[in-house]
Amino acid sequence: MATDARWIRWPAGQDHAQFGYGADYNPEQWPRETWAEDVRLMREAGVTIVTVGVFSWARLQLAPDTWDFAWLDEVMDLLHANGIAVDLATATASPPPWLTTLHPEILPVTADGVTLSPGSRQHWRPASPVFRRYALALVEAMAARYGEHPALAAWHVSNELGCHNVHDYSDDAAHAFRDWLRERYGTVAELNRAWGTAFWSQAYSDFAEVLPPRRAATHPNPTQQLDFKRFSSWVLQDYLRAERDVLRRLTPDVPVTTNFMLIGHNGMDYAAWADDVDFVANDHYRLVVERPEDDLSLAANLTSNLAEGRPWFLMEHATSAVNWAEINPVKSPADLLHDALVHVGHGADAVCYFQWRQSRAGAEKYHSAMVPHAGADTDTYRAVVQLGGLLRDLRQVVGSRRAPARVAIVVDWESWWAVELDSHPSSHVDYRREVLEWYGALLDAGVRVDVVPVRAELSGYDVVVAPLLYLMPGALAERLRAFVARGGHLVTTYFSGIVDTHDHVHLGGYPGALRDLLGIRVAEFMPLLADQQVELDNGTRGTLWSEPVEITDPAAKAVVCYASGLLAGRPAVTRCQQGSGSATYVSTRLGIEGIAALLPEILGPAGVDAEPTSADGKVETMVRTDGTTEYVFLANRTADAVEVPVGEERVLLGEVSARGGLALAPHGVGVLVRPA
Ligand code: GAL
Repeated sequence: MATDARWIRWPAGQDHAQFGYGADYNPEQWPRETWAEDVRLMREAGVTIVTVGVFSWARLQLAPDTWDFAWLDEVMDLLHANGIAVDLATATASPPPWLTTLHPEILPVTADGVTLSPGSRQHWRPASPVFRRYALALVEAMAARYGEHPALAAWHVSNELGCHNVHDYSDDAAHAFRDWLRERYGTVAELNRAWGTAFWSQAYSDFAEVLPPRRAATHPNPTQQLDFKRFSSWVLQDYLRAERDVLRRLTPDVPVTTNFMLIGHNGMDYAAWADDVDFVANDHYRLVVERPEDDLSLAANLTSNLAEGRPWFLMEHATSAVNWAEINPVKSPADLLHDALVHVGHGADAVCYFQWRQSRAGAEKYHSAMVPHAGADTDTYRAVVQLGGLLRDLRQVVGSRRAPARVAIVVDWESWWAVELDSHPSSHVDYRREVLEWYGALLDAGVRVDVVPVRAELSGYDVVVAPLLYLMPGALAERLRAFVARGGHLVTTYFSGIVDTHDHVHLGGYPGALRDLLGIRVAEFMPLLADQQVELDNGTRGTLWSEPVEITDPAAKAVVCYASGLLAGRPAVTRCQQGSGSATYVSTRLGIEGIAALLPEILGPAGVDAEPTSADGKVETMVRTDGTTEYVFLANRTADAVEVPVGEERVLLGEVSARGGLALAPHGVGVLVRPA
């Protein structure tokens, strides 16, 4: 029986319309005395939910037939007695030493054939039947033990599936890969055709000869690599479903989720995974050094759109520093509030951290937490308490959905994988960076954007930006044509529309499948060297890539031309008018400045303006709606104070200035309320 639960099942006695607020809680790292202080501080901070048991396998199953649930029983009861709900992990994320000793054949293998040792975490093969047997037995035991526990509010499958083990090249992976390929291609002849094995004498005569793309003499077959990425995402998704199905069978009323890693990890096609969980959960850490706020906003935005606008769960972020970068800068208390509230503005109804109490030992002892080593008398903990209060003040926002924007940026995992494969014209093409640059430039322009998976319905948008949409099956090209034919404005870039689903080039000139729609033809790619740039005639410049764009359709015209180098005088950016719609092509990497200069040409004809609350792009506007009321989240993107004029709206969060505006401190977030 399938559950219809789409959100946290708040325990009886807890407010059902509150924000989830809390962290990963790892009480097994602490003596019992600390647990009492933990719950006291959690109550003080306004914590409503914690994730328990993520790395508890070794403490729950001491040997194949020896279990110890007593400590977890106590923790669950203690949390419940204190009004704190539990997102209970299935505890399968990290197999215990006895299991890897008994079954070393569950350990993952790298492309070089190195078997990874236990001693860290997530050392298991996604395709291992032995691992799956033990893990599912643990899931059964957890569900049987805690399925009826009054604190149980959601199940948390494993943890960050694929974070360290997505690409496993073991023999188990080889077997499962062959099964997956048989299912996909039916015959070995079809596999040979799809993989283009006429090249380099690679023709297979039997599926049994096929291997994962292990380390080879030089570039492995690109379609083999792409299919292995598809398979690797699928096999973990299949594992997620296996755990979920056990939980649904035993506890049909308890929602099931797992934490995604948008957009820091691209190994998993989360657009395909999103339907397999009852609600979408995401982890986000500030990974990028430049414009980290844009990266955070983009991740939250995409997560919300994977959840199709429904509330989602921010399962992890950091109160301050992480510990896994080369240098780990702290976050100010203001940034702590900013980050959490931007996630909320993009639709999160639960805001949690890794982790509750900073560990004394282990690899993450220098990772920040809600309660730092120095204890509760710290700025971090005070900001944590402040955030708990703010979330209580914002309670009426809970349950509202993200309001759609008029501009979309399309993200496609298959293109992301394929465009960054080796043996290409340039190995410096960076999918995530290109997407972020378009997103950042649109934020700078004060425009609200939806970042959507490629499968999303595009017809409601006025402008669709599809950067580096390299992999272009016929059906996708058809959808883009239909979008433009209906009056939509499409923008795409260099190295888009180039190959079909098997990574075979669309012949007749680039950009292959999009040539007609764009009204252009390109005979060769002209990548630029790392230190090379080309001047453009609008005063900006291109890097990374250039192309001799030839206009083939009278409806197309040059919008910007190259002004230096071999291509001087030739079109760099073109637009092809199609009825009231248009298709714009950008043949070089413009970067944020170059995109900013081009945006008026794109947004103007589409009639898309900056949000009135954007303060010239200094402020990001995020809108949530419950149908009758709109909640307008305004995040100051700058390190200076900004004032936003307020009209009929009511200020729900933030300072009202002497002039009656909303005064936003550096990186401050305010919320206005207005009728929908
Ligand atoms: C996540 C993980 C957590 C913790 C955190 C530290 O990848 O799920 O367990 O390691 O990162 O930033």
